[in-house]
This record gives sequence, C-alpha cells and structure tokens, in this order.
Amino acid sequence: MKFFLDTADLDQIAEAASWGVVAGVTTNPTLYARIGGKLADFPAHIQRICALCAGPVSAEAVGTTRADIIAEGQQLAALAPNVVVKVPTTIEGLAATKALAEKNIAVNMTLCFSVPQAIMAARAGATYISPFVGRFDDISEDGLAQLEDVVVAIENYEFDQQVNIIAASIRSAHHVTQAALMGADIATVPYDVLKKLVEHPLTDRGLASFEADWKKVITA
Ligand code: G3P
Repeated sequence: MKFFLDTADLDQIAEAASWGVVAGVTTNPTLYARIGGKLADFPAHIQRICALCAGPVSAEAVGTTRADIIAEGQQLAALAPNVVVKVPTTIEGLAATKALAEKNIAVNMTLCFSVPQAIMAARAGATYISPFVGRFDDISEDGLAQLEDVVVAIENYEFDQQVNIIAASIRSAHHVTQAALMGADIATVPYDVLKKLVEHPLTDRGLASFEADWKKVITA
C-alpha cells in the first residue's frame, strides 16, 4: 500500500516527504480553506505542492455541472503533469470523468460511499477512486467494511484503465492497518495520523533501554 498525504499544508508535505514515505498528495476545498487559502492563489498553490511531491497530486474541481467540471479539470491538469483532477461521484461527475479520461487527464472520483458508485466511477474512466472510511463511520456505518467491499468488487473485474483504490477519510492507525490487510492500493492520511503510524510504545521503551545501557558502555 502506498501513502498519500491528505493535506494542502506545504510544511506538512515537505516534512513528510523527507521521511521517504509519501507517494502523493490529496487536497480538497476544506483542506485548502483550513490553511487560509485564497481563490486567486489556488493554482499557484497546487503548483507549489506539485513541486514538493513528484507523485500524483489531487486537486478538486468544485463545479457541479459536467461542463464546469470539465473546464475546471482541464485548467487544473494544465498546472503540472502530476495533477490528478478530483471529481465528485455524481452523474455530472461521471460524465465529466468520461470526458476528462478521453483527454488523458487522470481523475480521482471522490466522496464514494458504495460499491455501485465505485464500479460506475471505474467504468467512467477514473484512475483513482476514494471511498471515505471515517465519514461512513460518522453516520454509524462500518467504513472499513464498505472499503473492503469496494476493494473486492473492483478486483473482480477488468477495466480499460488501471484503477487504484484510495482509502480516504482515514482517522487512525487501525484504519490504515485494515486498509493494508484488505489490499487497498493507497491510503491518504492526514499529517498527524501519518506521524502516529510510526509510533509504538515498545519502540519508545526499547530505545530508552538501549540508550540507558549504552551510557553504561561509554562510561565503563
Ligand atoms: O481526501 C478527503 C478525505 O480524506 C476527507 O477526510 O477526515 O475530512 O472525512 P475527512
């Protein structure tokens, strides 16, 4: 499983990239608003992210009609070769995905919450599909079970393009563990969760004991 970073924060992207584990970045309007992003600076900001991360960088189209999403998607894709256009899983989004895929523009269909949505996204030409785990949990459903259903269903079929499942709306190491065990291609993870993934109390305890014992060695 690859890790994408789910953020628009340049410092977080630069820091996590230095750990050697970040294969891509996903953004959305909420994440851009969270860093105080301004509309006029959005294209330049996506380009700054693309300069920090050579892998796929998802930038979301906010239009709701196919014409708007297609126009916006073409503008976003022109910003850098590694931009992936994020498109909502709706009828208009499917139509836009079909048109963008025909122009060889990679699409990440987002806000996916069901197997039929995922299969339709794949048939429309999406290269990435993002089932949301945490938000499904938020409504007292089982987000991980839903993700697993999508992974299995997509694996059952051949599609014209390679389809990558991105486990999105990830909130915990448990989400990441289960996504990896079920074979999700990618997990897109917020910075704070990504940091926690490398932490373990036994690692800390082992390190403390090694340090203490090494002090005995150097003072002997
Ligand atoms: O990529 C978007 C998705 O990960 C959103 O996560 O935590 O806002 O549900 P969240």
